Formats: sequence, C-alpha cells, structure tokens
Amino acid sequence: MTIKIYPNPILRIKTNDVTYEEAEKLKPTLIDKMINYSGIGLAACQIGISRKIAVVSEKATGDKPLFLINPVILETKGKQSIEEGCLSIKGITSFVPRAAFIKVETGIEGEKKIIEADGLLAIVIQHEIDHLNGILFIDRLNLPKKLWCLLKARYNKKMKKKL
Ligand code: CO
Repeated sequence: MTIKIYPNPILRIKTNDVTYEEAEKLKPTLIDKMINYSGIGLAACQIGISRKIAVVSEKATGDKPLFLINPVILETKGKQSIEEGCLSIKGITSFVPRAAFIKVETGIEGEKKIIEADGLLAIVIQHEIDHLNGILFIDRLNLPKKLWCLLKARYNKKMKKKL
C-alpha cells in the first residue's frame, strides 16, 4: 500500500463511515504507514481505503496517537494558520486558514467521545477530517494560490516520473 498522490481520484471521494471491526483492523496499518512516511497525520483514503478513519501522531497530540473515527466537527472558534504540507501532494506547502479551536465528536456509535483541541493538534485534526471529506489543503486557498500549487504539484509529479 503506497500513499496515493494528487490527482488520484480516491483523494476526492467523500469516505464512508467505518465500522468497529474495520477500524480495529485499520489502526495498526495507519500507524505503520504514518511512521514509514514520516507524516504527522494520515487518513485511510491516502492509502486507498475510502473509510472515515484517520490517525494523528503523538507529535501533535503530545501523548498517544489519536484516531479520528467517523469524526464530526461540532464547534470552531478563532483563526490560526501554519505552513502545511501533505503526504499526498508532494513538494507543496502553504499557509492554510484554519480554526484556532475545535470541538470534535469521534468514535463508533455507542462509544462516541468529544475532544477539544487548539494549536497544532487542532490544525492536524482539521487537515485529516478534510481528507475524509475529499478536501485537500489546497482547496482552502484563494484561487491564484491554489492554481499555483496545482501547477507545481503536477510539475513535481512529471519530474518524478522522468527520474
Ligand atoms: Co494530507
């Protein structure tokens, strides 16, 4: 399972809810892949599995890795921005407008929990939830910036094939 790279269409599909069994099976794979590719977060669709599950690394949580399972953003406050990249869009980074604080519901029916996050953790969670909805960070940019990133991403992909 390799990381799916833009413009792979699977990155644009809104993922389906994950079941408990699927989630338990996917958790170790997601962690392994995130570590292999040195990501700070990884969504299942990035490895070709169109299900609503993503992992956030302990680099962002400051604790254990966090699994986002069928997550829903309940509340957002404020604004923040850092230079973001994505394992699925090679060689592109950009400042992306994000909420400063988020409240998210996550988990399988019957064992849902609510998490609150700010700072880097809030950014990574928003980035990963976007993936689960078929949204890439470049979609959050204004049009000229987005077009520039898309051109650069296509160029990088072409260059890679030549090498
Ligand atoms: Co990403």
